[in-house]
Amino acid sequence: MKQPMIIQGGMGVGVSDWRLARAVSLQGELGVVSGTGVNSMLIRRLQLGDADGQMRRALQHFPDPSIADEIIDTYYVEGGIGPSQRFKRSSLPSVHSPLALQRLYVAAAFVEVWLAKEGHGGMVGINVLEKLQTSNLPVLYGAMLAGVDHVLVGAGVPREIPGVLDAFVEHRPATISVSVTGATDAVKVSTSFDPHAVMTIDAKRPLHRPIFLAIISSSTLATHLVQKATGRVDGFVVEGVLAGGHNAPPRGPMKLTDRGEPIYGKRDEADVDGIRALGLPFWLAGSFGSPERLAEARALGAAGIQVGTAFAFCDESGLSKGLRDDVIARWMMHDSIPSEAVFTDPLASPTGFPFKVVLLPNTLAEADVYDARPRKCDLGYLRQLAVRDDGKLIYRCPAEPVKDYVKKGGAVEDTVNRKCLCNALLANIGLAQRQEHGYEEQPLLTAGDDLASLGKFLSDGRDHYSAHDVLSYLKSSVT
Ligand SMILES: Cc1cc2nc3c(=O)[nH]c(=O)nc-3n(C[C@H](O)[C@H](O)[C@H](O)COP(=O)(O)O)c2cc1C
Repeated sequence: MKQPMIIQGGMGVGVSDWRLARAVSLQGELGVVSGTGVNSMLIRRLQLGDADGQMRRALQHFPDPSIADEIIDTYYVEGGIGPSQRFKRSSLPSVHSPLALQRLYVAAAFVEVWLAKEGHGGMVGINVLEKLQTSNLPVLYGAMLAGVDHVLVGAGVPREIPGVLDAFVEHRPATISVSVTGATDAVKVSTSFDPHAVMTIDAKRPLHRPIFLAIISSSTLATHLVQKATGRVDGFVVEGVLAGGHNAPPRGPMKLTDRGEPIYGKRDEADVDGIRALGLPFWLAGSFGSPERLAEARALGAAGIQVGTAFAFCDESGLSKGLRDDVIARWMMHDSIPSEAVFTDPLASPTGFPFKVVLLPNTLAEADVYDARPRKCDLGYLRQLAVRDDGKLIYRCPAEPVKDYVKKGGAVEDTVNRKCLCNALLANIGLAQRQEHGYEEQPLLTAGDDLASLGKFLSDGRDHYSAHDVLSYLKSSVT
């Protein structure tokens, strides 16, 4: 398979959905759908009436029709729910997720990849976060049923994923370990997915084994994966701290600038020589979205670059039009996005990893909007498994109601300024839940430092730009 020069980075939840991945893939580069929260995305789109019919059309191609029918029967609402109605939710992911949830994950990942790949031969990848261990197995199987070409995994050490892909080629069951906060080595928890137990049809045709790319930020981790992964690692995306989304925490104790951002130093820069020495293809990410930086990456021996921020605000992005337009009108059109518009927040994400936040008014980035949100954990993607003092295993999230978190043995300090990314990221793509008492979940935007340079796509009075514009610009110096 041809190697892409540009990877459009996976952006959850649904910022890189099938439309964006498809647009990039049609241009000959690697379009990547996000595999995060796909179950909620699918069922909320169905509950909004699936106006363009794409969800139901893709489900018709799902190889297990009875599962597709069950999902439509349970969630599709003709004409859509009313503006004051709440979305019906699926169960929360857990180590032993109910069958209906596992099926929903498989079908939802299938829908995203199938639509992105429909009717052309371009490459499409799926991105998952290693930390979402309780949902990754069915998501990967569903993506493989749709013929996904690449699997990209970040936010952790995805050592066990290559072996999972090998097992799913033959529809064999797969098991991965689940991290447990505060556990001794004696506590071992794992989660499994068995295609034969979940699907109602008995699939036999072998699936295509996707190319596996690990998203890493150090050569030590890359070397560890090459040596210890449960199957073949095909390459790396090397992501630096200027990238949008989650960033790796600084090495050593966390120290903050006067503004409250983590201080990164030389030790946090990836050793590109060490990565090149492994002999596998790699792509550089994190403010590499320009022809000059593409040339620089290639001069360093990279196959190319992975770009997120520039695509996040283009026409095909899943971000709600209102949010995109707000960012564009507020900053980009005036060619004056202050670099302070992006804040690397050490606390916002329940994962404990720094998370880049766009300081946009009327989002959870503002203290009063954050304070007005009644804490609630009803999606649970970022819940961590932990051992309580009495030895019991429990799920908890530092963004859940403080008293619940503390009752489960969590430290009250861990809850300070934590934001419910699950609900906020769904609000970003126009799928906000209306909670009890009418509270509507609010967005929280992420972008990389590259946000400050996106005005270049909006010259001559334009107020929007396409994925094609981004790709043409990036490749403008390639001969
Ligand atoms: C809105 C947004 C959401 C993102 N979500 C994810 C994600 O879910 N998983 C992931 O591995 N990376 C995520 N990223 C990182 C991108 O995939 C990409 O590596 C990064 O944006 C590259 O740096 P750049 O933003 O400077 O182009 C996200 C980035 C943005 C801007």
